[in-house]
Amino acid sequence: MGRLKKGSRCSICKAKGEKDKAVVFLPHHRLALCKKHFVEWFEKRVEKTIKEFRMFSKKDKILVAVSGGKDSLALWNALTNLGYEADGFYIDLGIPEYSEDSKNLAISFSEKIRRPLHIVSLKEEIAPIPQIDKATSRPACSACGTVKRYYMNRYAKQLGYNIIATGHNLDDEAAVLFGNTLHWDIDYLKRQYPVLKEENGFIRKVKPLCKITEKESALYAFFNNIEYIEYECPFSEGASSIEYKELLSQLEEKHPGTKLQFYTNFLKKMYPILRQHEEKEKKEIKLCKICGEPSFTDVCSVCKLKEKVKTEV
Ligand code: AMP
Ligand code: FES
Ligand code: ZN
Ligand code: ZN
Repeated sequence: MGRLKKGSRCSICKAKGEKDKAVVFLPHHRLALCKKHFVEWFEKRVEKTIKEFRMFSKKDKILVAVSGGKDSLALWNALTNLGYEADGFYIDLGIPEYSEDSKNLAISFSEKIRRPLHIVSLKEEIAPIPQIDKATSRPACSACGTVKRYYMNRYAKQLGYNIIATGHNLDDEAAVLFGNTLHWDIDYLKRQYPVLKEENGFIRKVKPLCKITEKESALYAFFNNIEYIEYECPFSEGASSIEYKELLSQLEEKHPGTKLQFYTNFLKKMYPILRQHEEKEKKEIKLCKICGEPSFTDVCSVCKLKEKVKTEV
């Protein structure tokens, strides 16, 4: 977040003839805001994003995937304040300390806002992440991403929700876009949109914070007294996305608005071109022979992972 000049007044209060001091400066929006107007600005921006990408409406039943981190809890709070019907979904990954701490924070938050939180334990479904990490040659994070997507989709359907909302923010999306562009990973670029529509057994997935920076969501969480997990998962150390985030933040410091432009111009200019291509060569989706969930292969990657973990013990 940019530097706030001493004595700056809130842009919105000023326009209304009020005198509140600004506590935040958003350089890429050229806005200085007081606490109340920052919270309002944040929620309006989330609402605008939901409408811009036609993510969902007040009639939908939304399942917010909560990790116990600032983004997903901030999202759950904002959706609830905006009047959406949003419940939580937490996957206990069985990572010592990290999973216990984040689970407790997710539970406390759900009690605070009085909305249900559904909890699924990976230990009961397959095995905890440290055990999966030992059984596979791929980094734990990649297996973790696969199982998270799988259980979010499976349980949302079973529990009767029609939307899954995740807390991915602008920093996450810009870093992933940077990595995919660096490698010209067209298959991933084709899917990098804040809405993945429902089809073939997949539930609609949305990212309402895709235009909110990490710092903005941390500030929103702070102003709303949301307690969240402040340390990273121990398995994420050394991930290349962290390096990309640092690089983009250096650029942002010098040229405010870089991240937002990089991401939104991709959505506006490049994504439609890639999409046309996608329509022509759509891959066929089958149902996994073992669990019946959608899959590109006869047996889905989670069932394959289960087999692998079983043979290792
Ligand atoms: P990450 O991949 O850890 O950056 O998380 C991205 C998003 O995935 C979060 O904002 C959450 O919405 C969701 N998520 C991550 N971890 C979990 C979890 N253990 N349980 C449920 N949702 C999660
Ligand atoms: Fe999945 Fe860290 S959160 S391995
Ligand atoms: Zn104000
Ligand atoms: Zn399967």
